[in-house]
Amino acid sequence: MTATIAVGSDHAGISLRRRVVEHVRQRGHAIALEAGPQDGERSDYPDQAAAVGQAVASGRAQLGVLICGTGIGISIAANKIPGVRAALVHDPVTATLATEHNNANVLCLGARLLAEPYALTLVDAWLDASFVARHQHRLDKLHALEEAD
Ligand code: RB5
Repeated sequence: MTATIAVGSDHAGISLRRRVVEHVRQRGHAIALEAGPQDGERSDYPDQAAAVGQAVASGRAQLGVLICGTGIGISIAANKIPGVRAALVHDPVTATLATEHNNANVLCLGARLLAEPYALTLVDAWLDASFVARHQHRLDKLHALEEAD
């Protein structure tokens, strides 16, 4: 399956962001948008989380990838957008389970923690996995939390 993917990073993730854009294009996916600074610029990860998260929540992109130094800040920010299920992953198991159990529509990576070729294998694991439908009722409860306030 090919998807439309939004990719964003803060300054800590510029190099990996470019590698991810190139990698997913090579896999046949379309880039809906690329958000983030250029070399030498600094930025604040909530800004890229908002750009990518809103693209996913609105349907402009089917999936998103977000990168900051640790992946922590940008995943916290993305999960504040209703409709976003952002998963911070560190290894192929969590990347696969992020799709199988959580149907994560945004993958978050820590550029300062992961070698770039290894990070790309996590993108592949996330994209190649399939959601397991028996977890749907849990996603329904996540959605209900968004409606609760
Ligand atoms: C930026 O220095 C750094 O704080 C950011 O990339 C990220 O790691 C925050 O969670």
